[in-house]
Amino acid sequence: MGVSHSKIILIGEHSVVYGYPAIAIPLKNITVKCRIEKSKNEFMYNEKDTLSTAVYTALKYLKKPKEKIKYIIDSEIPTKRGMGSSAAVSIAAIRAIFEYFNEKLEDKLLEELVNEAEIVAHSKPSGLDAKTCLSDKAVKFERNIGFSNIDLDLNAYLIIADTGIYGNTKEAVQKVADLGEKAKPMLENLGKLALEIEKYINQKNIIEIGKRLSLAHEELKKLGVSIEKSDMLVEEALKNEAVGAKMSGGGLGGCIIALVQDYENAEVIAEKLKEKGAVNIWIEKI
Ligand code: MEV
Repeated sequence: MGVSHSKIILIGEHSVVYGYPAIAIPLKNITVKCRIEKSKNEFMYNEKDTLSTAVYTALKYLKKPKEKIKYIIDSEIPTKRGMGSSAAVSIAAIRAIFEYFNEKLEDKLLEELVNEAEIVAHSKPSGLDAKTCLSDKAVKFERNIGFSNIDLDLNAYLIIADTGIYGNTKEAVQKVADLGEKAKPMLENLGKLALEIEKYINQKNIIEIGKRLSLAHEELKKLGVSIEKSDMLVEEALKNEAVGAKMSGGGLGGCIIALVQDYENAEVIAEKLKEKGAVNIWIEKI
């Protein structure tokens, strides 16, 4: 059996692909489990499927690509909603395979194998999702540079609201790539906002963090990766006194996040978002 938790991006989706910093938060209570069992038939690799790719990547590494095994997934993480389900499923599967064969698995190797499998889901993954799903703490991540842990102790709440619409990270990443030079100002602004948010996290200044989350949503809109329902939920959260709100993850569907100062207010906003069509809501203390 292998387990992994999910993640949510606070700031820096898309710009992280271009080397700008991003901050993401592990969601330790939303998990996926993968169980490996003996099977009558050889494992059949389906290269279009992330999970199958993760299993194959692990089997290939262990030089057992034709083993008679099957996998069973039990997941609380909704798929294609920007919550890192593809990275998390891959982590759980790779951990399960290594455990099944009693092989030791160092974190560094696990991360490498997950990123290899993630290429199927994302084509050009920054590595942020894998890193956050492997971390117990919030992470600041910069592609090809590295990561550091961030102490999130804001005494505030992050509402995560699911639009119920499948996101498409691969398509969204391609959309930004197709903008070419036109995307540069938005990506630069997102990078700047991420650094400012990091500073205000250290100062525990929730209002300033909130303002910048909302500004980031505007930049993501300009990049063309938000959708009407996400925009509508962001507006609804702001109308009801969230200090900031934005879409989160690859976009073209998926989740929005809203930063709120106290729990009572978070519950009120969560209700309002449900009335407006959010299909699932999580409230995380951050
Ligand atoms: C997807 O969760 C985040 C993106 O920035 C893509 C990536 O980092 O690989 C959109």
